[in-house]
Amino acid sequence: MAAVEAPPAGRGGWKNPGVARDRDVHAFDVRAPAYESGGLGRLHHEIADRTIALALRSAPNPGRVLDVGCGTGYLLRELARRLPEATRLEGVDAAPRMVETARSLAPADARLHFSRGFVEDLPHPAGSFELVISTTSFDHWADQAAGLAECARVLAPGGHLVLTDLFSLLLWPTLLAGHRGRARTVRLATRRLRAAGFQSIRWHRSHAILLRTVIASAPSATTDAGAEAWS
Ligand SMILES: C[S@@+](CC[C@H](N)C(=O)[O-])C[C@H]1O[C@@H](n2cnc3c(N)ncnc32)[C@H](O)[C@@H]1O
Repeated sequence: MAAVEAPPAGRGGWKNPGVARDRDVHAFDVRAPAYESGGLGRLHHEIADRTIALALRSAPNPGRVLDVGCGTGYLLRELARRLPEATRLEGVDAAPRMVETARSLAPADARLHFSRGFVEDLPHPAGSFELVISTTSFDHWADQAAGLAECARVLAPGGHLVLTDLFSLLLWPTLLAGHRGRARTVRLATRRLRAAGFQSIRWHRSHAILLRTVIASAPSATTDAGAEAWS
C-alpha cells in the first residue's frame, strides 16, 4: 500500500485537539479496509449519492471539487464519472488508512487526488475550489468552527459548500453529554455556518430521518441577512 504523508504543519490558529481526535481517527483507520462493505457501506453510498444529487442542483458543473473527510473516496469516484469536465477532484481525510484505501480503489484518473489532512488546517490556497463537499464527517471534526472557516477560505467566490450529516432536534439531549459543543441541530449549525461567513444557507431533508444536507454559498464582500430556508 502507498505510504501516506504526514499532515501539514499547523497554520497557526488551530490547536491540536489531542487524544479525543486521535481516538476517533484510529477508529476510522481500523474500519477503512471494509468500510464500503455490507449494509453500512451501502448506507454510506446512498448518502453520498443523495448528496451528489443535491450538490449538482446548486453547482451543476464545478471545475474543482474538494471532499473533506472523504473516507474511502466513493463520492469522488462517482463525481469523476459524472463530471467529465471537472479538472481536479481532491479528497482529504484525517485517517491514513482511509486515504490509502481511497487511493487503492480509485480508477486511473489524473484528476483524482487523496491526501491526509485535517479540515481545521487545509493545505490548499484560498479560493481553490468551486465545490467543497462533505458527508457524515462534520460531526467528527474536532473543531467545527475552524473547519468551516477553512472550507470558506478554500472556496472560490461564488462557490458552494454542501454538507450532509446528523442534524436533528432529537439529538439535542446528546449535546448535554458526550457531544457537547457539536452543532447537531439545524439551528446550531446555521449559526456556525453564518459565523464562518457562509450565505444563502439552504437545508434539505436527506436520506434518513436524522440526516440533513445543508448547501451554502461562499462568503462574499456583501452580506446576506436571509434566514435559513428549507426545500
Ligand atoms: C463516517 S466517515 C465518512 C467518510 C465518507 N465521507 C463517507 O461518507 O463515507 C468520517 C470521516 O471523516 C474523517 N474525519 C474526522 N475528523 C476529521 C477532520 N478533522 N479532518 C478531516 N477528516 C476527518 C474520518 O477520518 C472519517 O474518514
